Amino acid sequence: FPARMLLPLLLLPWAWGALAASPPLPTESLALRLLLTSLFPNASAVTVAAKVLLGDLETHALDSRTGAIRFLQPWAQEGLSPREWQDLEQVAAQSLADFVRTVTKIAREQGIDYPFVAQASIGCELRPNGPSRGFYDIAGNGQAVVSFDEEAGTWVARSADGLARYTQDLLNRDWSTSTRLQYFLKVSCIYVLQTFARHGNASLARRERPIAVVFAREPPPTGPPASLLLVCRVTGFYPRTVHVAWLQDGEEVGPGRQLDSTGTLPNADLTYQLRSSLAVGPGDGHSYTCWVEHSSLGGQSLLIPW
Ligand SMILES: *[C@@H]1O[C@H](CO)[C@@H](O)[C@H](O)[C@H]1NC(C)=O
Ligand SMILES: *[C@@H]1O[C@H](CO)[C@@H](O)[C@H](O)[C@H]1NC(C)=O
Repeated sequence: FPARMLLPLLLLPWAWGALAASPPLPTESLALRLLLTSLFPNASAVTVAAKVLLGDLETHALDSRTGAIRFLQPWAQEGLSPREWQDLEQVAAQSLADFVRTVTKIAREQGIDYPFVAQASIGCELRPNGPSRGFYDIAGNGQAVVSFDEEAGTWVARSADGLARYTQDLLNRDWSTSTRLQYFLKVSCIYVLQTFARHGNASLARRERPIAVVFAREPPPTGPPASLLLVCRVTGFYPRTVHVAWLQDGEEVGPGRQLDSTGTLPNADLTYQLRSSLAVGPGDGHSYTCWVEHSSLGGQSLLIPW
């Protein structure tokens, strides 16, 4: 039985002392995550893509041929010494190889059909009002398979099927890797997250103001009876968190069937957009205003009357 299953050399001993010394950070919760996507076309080939996100910023990518870490932000290399980058590259390369080997073994023993996709999301989150949180989630063909329970140091099946239970039991037999994984999530990952957050502070503080317009549409035939559908289109804002509501004669319209929202969607330029619509009764004589609150507006709101 292989002693190292998923993550081998996680001790990164430089992280420990440095973590104790580093200043407290952020005022909002902030996650660092490595997203791994591996396509297995058949039993003898695999293509892997790996990228690192700080919040929603892509900061690093792993060149899967050379194993080199590529820096996607001007500050992405700052804060760690060449020796520390070397260690991280080695951990990444070895972990990737172990991941592929473990998935291949599971596919063989569980008779998984090719082609398939295996994905992993590994990282940690600093939360202003709570302890930090580490995570390692594995999915196959888009379905959750197992997650690591950072506190217990064990893997938990995410569904009742045989693959999830088999994977859980297989990984839980490798107690030594689980112990190192706990250390990695609690210490190494948090240290690296704090380092990136400090050097990327200007990118994290970026603010883009929303632009909002209100227009009217014919209502859809299946919705509630209405003569008009008022649409508030809000776009170009960053960061993602936004509050969009409708005022009827100055009073916020409460939740209900007359309201609909696309939810926040990404634009191509790392800003976001959202559309909120309000179905308005035939000739109801009220006034309607779209109300937008966002951190770029310095405590003010946008009010766009219909
Ligand atoms: C496996 O897939 C790769 C990539 O698609 C292909 O080049 C290779 O010929 C395949 N090998 C076998 C044994 O089918
Ligand atoms: C980022 O950190 C640097 C160094 O601590 C500081 O001078 C700068 O004002 C910070 N920028 C922002 C936008 O917080």
